Amino acid sequence: MAQECPAYVLDPEYIQQLLLCSQEAKKFAYCPYSHFPVGAALLTRDGKIFSGCNVENACYALGICAERTAIQKAISEGYKDFRAIAIASDLQDDFISPCGACRQVMREFGTNWTVYMTKPDGTYVVRTVQDLLPASFGPEDLQKIQ
Ligand code: THU
Repeated sequence: MAQECPAYVLDPEYIQQLLLCSQEAKKFAYCPYSHFPVGAALLTRDGKIFSGCNVENACYALGICAERTAIQKAISEGYKDFRAIAIASDLQDDFISPCGACRQVMREFGTNWTVYMTKPDGTYVVRTVQDLLPASFGPEDLQKIQ
């Protein structure tokens, strides 16, 4: 039986580029309320990178995370097959971890792709979307009822 290709086979130079992109995107974070800048860089299957930052709002609930900004930019430009996303924050001692809402939005576009949770020094923890959101609900489930 054919094996699915493991998600986290990415060339080291791709990883570095993606990490740098997420750090650059963080510089544009609009976070006057939380003062917690986050950047994300999303790599498509065909090698294009979409970046994103968190964008907060005076109506607090309307703020959006960096990951979802990047995903919505990609989708709105016709890209929906993803290989990886890198996330950057200013947390020195912790790898930034995506919130539940972002995990669900990532999952919409598949479970077998990779999330790089980074620190400012360029170290990272890598997980698949499946790892971060096991036993998930997704678009396939909606097809199961006639
Ligand atoms: N935030 C992100 O953009 N991504 C994450 O992975 C964690 C949290 C943002 C949301 C909000 O603007 C600020 O960080 C504080 O929660």
